[in-house]
Amino acid sequence: MAKVKIQDVEALDGGTASYGGAIEKIEIMRSMLRWANELERSQIDRLLNQLGTLREDLLRLSHTERFASLASEPVARKPQSNRERHAGLVEREFVFEGVFGESPKLLDAFEIAEKAAPTNLPVLIDGESGTGKELMAKVIHANGARADKPYVSVNCGAIPENLLESELFGHVKGAFTGASSNRAGRFESADQGTIFLDEIGEMPLIGQVKLLRVLQSAEIQRVGSDEVINVDTRIVAATNRDLKKMCAEGTFREDLYYRLSVINVTLPALRERPDEIPLLVEFFTDEAAESLGRRPIELSRSLRAFLKKYEYPGNIRELRNMIFRLSCLAEGTAGLEHLPEEIRPQGSGRKADKSRLEHEELSLAETKRLASDAAEKEYLEAGLFETGGNVTELAKRLDLNRAHLQTLLKKHGLKSKEFRPRKN
Ligand SMILES: Nc1ncnc2c1ncn2[C@@H]1O[C@H](COP(=O)(O)OP(=O)(O)OP(=O)(O)O)[C@@H](O)[C@H]1O
Ligand SMILES: [Mg+2]
Repeated sequence: MAKVKIQDVEALDGGTASYGGAIEKIEIMRSMLRWANELERSQIDRLLNQLGTLREDLLRLSHTERFASLASEPVARKPQSNRERHAGLVEREFVFEGVFGESPKLLDAFEIAEKAAPTNLPVLIDGESGTGKELMAKVIHANGARADKPYVSVNCGAIPENLLESELFGHVKGAFTGASSNRAGRFESADQGTIFLDEIGEMPLIGQVKLLRVLQSAEIQRVGSDEVINVDTRIVAATNRDLKKMCAEGTFREDLYYRLSVINVTLPALRERPDEIPLLVEFFTDEAAESLGRRPIELSRSLRAFLKKYEYPGNIRELRNMIFRLSCLAEGTAGLEHLPEEIRPQGSGRKADKSRLEHEELSLAETKRLASDAAEKEYLEAGLFETGGNVTELAKRLDLNRAHLQTLLKKHGLKSKEFRPRKN
């Protein structure tokens, strides 16, 4: 073939409906180019146009194919139990940094963190207070290539507005009153590593603008200096605020929100994973015992029932603090009476009779009666927690007549409505 004929090139015009068609066109182009001695400018332009169309077609086809495979994926993928998903993470040497749990939502968060960690993409962690956002930021750092580089944590809510810029980006001597020497900011300290911007929702708008600039250009300037400094810092941010709502209200910049939340990790509230409470209780009981230097406490049946039903507005932090408190106050066995007053159901956990048992000289009959009463009360309390204060349900479980159960509750000063779930 001495010269490419115009009709050969024309034959390639138009869209392509299948991979087979696209590959055929590519083959024709290849052979045309291989055999052509020279191409005219118009033919080159036309070939370039056709290549452009072909590229678009291929992108479209691959997009359709990706969606087709995604749609069929749930059928194809074998469902995994929570245990298997957790074991998979362990096998892949995922670093948990002490984050404990196997609930599906937490596993989702771990798996997103696992994929995000080796990249440099910004991650936004959200979740209620005390759900482990700070721990998760450390998990992301620890599982990435920057693990042995600095991890710098900044609480955006704790820095006064006028110091924010200098805190983040540093300053030069004389930049403002009190700037007596040059100082590097947190971004420079975190160079090569990760910066954790905690409570990002508390950052004032002016700081948000500055932060956006860093995200766009990976450059900073110390306050009072014209020098531009390149920083290679991976950003992980966290918030317990609804940033989307703040964007709508104009208190958080939408462009910043989208840049920060390239990857989003949401941590579940503790009340969404009550099945894990007993395991967490055990975990924190051991931790508390170790840090207090004493034997792990036992928990009374009613206390265990309470801990399982409680709503935890302060999430895992609240549970952990509670266990530390119980471990400190209780001797041997912790009961409802060791709970903070504001969350303890009224009438529960009064241990007057128990204390009589421990401290008074009583007859055998009296001792037996008091011990039996205390055990009965404990049993009823636990049942009330377990049923959420539903007396009919409890009567059924205990195989007792409802009226008789009411009498027993009254005898022990237990009010069923005190055991109904609290709305936070
Ligand atoms: N899944 C978990 N396993 C074990 N400990 C946890 C877990 N999640 C949180 N904790 C513990 O709970 C406490 C609170 O966690 P963290 O400070 O990470 O929460 P947070 O979401 O950042 O809270 P806040 O919004 O109040 O800043 C810490 O002591 C942490 O060690
Ligand atoms: Mg935090």
